[in-house]
Amino acid sequence: MKKEYNVALLPGDGTGPEVLAEGTKVIQAASKKFGFNMKFSRYDLGGQRYIKTGEILPDSVVNELRQHDAIYLGAIGHPDVKPGILEKGILLRLRFELDQYINLRPVKLYEGVDTPLKNKGPKEIDFVVVRENTEGLYVGAGGVLKKGTKDEVAIQESINTRMGVERCLRFAFQYTQKRNKAKKLTLCGKTNVLTYAFDLWERAFHEVAQEYPDVLTDYAHVDATCMWMIKNPEWFDVIATDNMFGDIITDLGAMIQGGLGIAAGGNINPEGVSMFEPMGGSAPKYTGKNVINPLAAILAGAMMLEFLDQQTAADSVEKAVQKALRENIKSLDASKMGMGTRELGDLIVENILAK
Ligand code: IPM
Ligand code: MN
Repeated sequence: MKKEYNVALLPGDGTGPEVLAEGTKVIQAASKKFGFNMKFSRYDLGGQRYIKTGEILPDSVVNELRQHDAIYLGAIGHPDVKPGILEKGILLRLRFELDQYINLRPVKLYEGVDTPLKNKGPKEIDFVVVRENTEGLYVGAGGVLKKGTKDEVAIQESINTRMGVERCLRFAFQYTQKRNKAKKLTLCGKTNVLTYAFDLWERAFHEVAQEYPDVLTDYAHVDATCMWMIKNPEWFDVIATDNMFGDIITDLGAMIQGGLGIAAGGNINPEGVSMFEPMGGSAPKYTGKNVINPLAAILAGAMMLEFLDQQTAADSVEKAVQKALRENIKSLDASKMGMGTRELGDLIVENILAK
C-alpha cells in the first residue's frame, strides 16, 4: 500500500468547485485518520478558461495528468459555451486519451433516502453498472453529407472491437466476483435489433464467462432493463453494457437511488490513471450559494480511495455519509438539505473522525 498519492483536481464549472472542495476536505480527514498522504494539484479547465483564453485542454496538461495517481473531477459544462465543446474537449477526451475504458456507476439506495419506488428499500436497490467507456457511438465515427440541405444525410456509427468489449467484460466479471453479492452479471444489450454489435458482445460474454464459473450470467435487452430497474431492481447485482446504453441506464439508476445529488461514478483504467466524478452537471443556477449537495462528489472520493487501495478509508467515508443520511439530511435536493454545502462536508468529516 502506498503512503502518498498525487491526485489532480479538476474542479471545472458551476458548482463543481464547491462540491469538490467538500470532497477533498473529507478525503484529507480520512487520509489523516488512516495514515496516508494526499497531495492535490489543481488544474483550471472548463468554461471560464475557454471563454478567457480559447484553451480547452492543452496537450501539456494531458501529459501532466498522466503522471498522477488519480483525477478527481467536479463538473464540466458552462451556460455560455455551446453544448458539446467542453464535454467532448475535456471529459470525453480524457476518457479516451487516458484509456479509461470502464465507467463504473453504483446504484445503491441508502437508508434515509427517498426513492420513487416506495416499496423498495436499501436491500432491493443495490447494484453496479459497468459501462464500456471508450467505444460504441461515442467514438465519433460517421459523417454528414449535404449538410443544411433537404437531402442532408447524417451517419453516426457504433464501433465495437473484440478487444474493447472483452476487456470491459473481463473487468465486469472480476468486479462481480469481488463484490460477492449474488455473484450475478447481467449483459444489457439489444441482440434482437443490433445484430452485429451485440452479437459480438454476446459471444464474447459467453466465452469470457468460461473463465469465471462462479459467476452467474444473465442477459436483458436494454428496454427491458429499464423496466426491471424500476419493477424489480433486486434482480440486478452487476450489469455490463455498451457506452450509449450505459449512459442512459445510469441516469435512470441515479434517479432510483434518490437523485443526482448522490450518484457517483468512476472512469477507470485498471492499468492507468482513473478519474472520479459526481454524475451530476455544473448546476449553474446554484453556483456560489452554498446550497448544492456535495454527497455525490464525496462518494466519488470514496470510490477513488477504493481504487487507490485504501479500502478502510473508503469504507469510513461511505459509513460517515450513511450516518448523515440516516440522522441529519432532510432532502438530497439543493437548498432543501437542511444545511449548507460546507456544513454537510464538515458533518461528514466529524463522522469520520468520531469513529
Ligand atoms: C456522463 C455524461 C457524459 C456522457 C456527457 C457529458 C458527455 O452524460 O458522464 O454520463 O454522455 O458520457
Ligand atoms: Mn450521462
